[in-house]
Amino acid sequence: MSKKRILVTGGCGFIGARVVQNLLATPHEVFVIDDMSSGERSAIPEMLVDLKVCDIRSEAARKYIKGVAPHFVIHLAAQIDVQVSLAKQQLDADINIMGTLNVIEACKEVAEFERFVFASSAAVYGNSVELPLMEDALPMPISPYGMSKWIGEQYLELNNEMAGFPYCALRFANVYGEKRTGAKDVISEFWDKMRNGESPIIHGDGEQTRDFVYVGDIAEALVLALDVPKNGIYNISTNEQTSINDVLRVMNGLLQTDIVPEHRMNRIGDVRDSRLSNQKFQAISGWQPLHTLSKGLEQMYLDRKNQELVLVK
Ligand SMILES: NC(=O)c1ccc[n+]([C@@H]2O[C@H](COP(=O)([O-])OP(=O)(O)OC[C@H]3O[C@@H](n4cnc5c(N)ncnc54)[C@H](O)[C@@H]3O)[C@@H](O)[C@H]2O)c1
Repeated sequence: MSKKRILVTGGCGFIGARVVQNLLATPHEVFVIDDMSSGERSAIPEMLVDLKVCDIRSEAARKYIKGVAPHFVIHLAAQIDVQVSLAKQQLDADINIMGTLNVIEACKEVAEFERFVFASSAAVYGNSVELPLMEDALPMPISPYGMSKWIGEQYLELNNEMAGFPYCALRFANVYGEKRTGAKDVISEFWDKMRNGESPIIHGDGEQTRDFVYVGDIAEALVLALDVPKNGIYNISTNEQTSINDVLRVMNGLLQTDIVPEHRMNRIGDVRDSRLSNQKFQAISGWQPLHTLSKGLEQMYLDRKNQELVLVK
C-alpha cells in the first residue's frame, strides 16, 4: 500500500498505543485523536505522531478529521467498561454511539476516504449459546456496552448500504497484555493483586470461560483490516476457551506463588462462556494469533519486569 494518512481514535489507550507502534513501522502518516480520559500521552512517541487532544463527540474532532482528510480511520476511542455502562447508560451511549456517529459523519465528508475500521466486541453476542460464536450468530447483548457496540456496527452497515461507506468491524474477544491505565481487564487485575501477594477477586465459581487474545495480535489484525478486500464484521480471537480458575493457575505458576482467590457474587452483564471462531478473518487476511495464553502471559511478565527495572533505575 502506498503512503496513506491513518487516523487512530483512542490512540493513547491500551490497544491504540500498540496499533500506533505498528503503524509507525509502515510508510504511512499517523494521526491520533484522544481525550486522555484513560489514555496517556507518553504511550505514543509524540515527535512522530500528530496528536489532537479532544473528545470524539466534539466539533473540534470533526474539524480535525476534515483537516487531516484521512484515508483510513481506526476507531478505538470508547467507554469500555461494562459495569460503567450499566451504571451510566446514557454516558455509554453518548460516547459509543453518538461519538462513533460523529466520526463516521466526518469521514463521509473526506473525498479520498478508503475505510473505517471499528473496534467492536464479543459483548455484542451476549449469552448467545452456540460456541464457537460465528459472525452470523444472532446478537443478544446483555449490557448497554454490548448494545452500543452492536448499534455502532449497524450504523456502519447501514451507511455502507445507503452510500457505499467502506468499513470493517472487528469483534475482539477478551484482550489482555501490559495495561498501564484505564479500566482493568481480569488479567491485569489479577496481575496487580498477585504481584503484591494479595488474593484476586473472582466473581462466581471461576469456571466461567473466556477467549483471551493478546494485545499484540489485536494490533496486527487492526493493521491488516485496512487492506481486507471485503467490508463486514469479523471476529478477532484465539478460538480457545480458558476458565478464570485456569488463568489463576497459569499466573500462580509464572509468579511461583500459591495464591487462592477471593470469591464474590456473579455480576450482572458478565457472560458465562465465550469462544469466538476466527476463521472468517483468517481466511480473508491470513492473520493468525501468534500468542497462546501462556505465551502472552509470559510476554506480559517480561514486560512488567522490564518496566519495574526502569522504575528502579
Ligand atoms: N480491551 C478489551 O478487552 C476490548 C475488547 C473488546 C473491544 N474493545 C474495544 O477496543 C477499543 C480500545 O479499547 P482499550 O482496551 O484500548 O481501551 P482504553 O480505555 O485503554 O483506550 C480507549 C482510549 O480512548 C480514549 N477515549 C475514551 N473516550 C474518548 C472520547 N470520548 N473521545 C476521545 N478519546 C476517548 C481514552 O482516553 C483511551 O486512550 C474500545 O473501542 C473497546 O471497546 C476492547
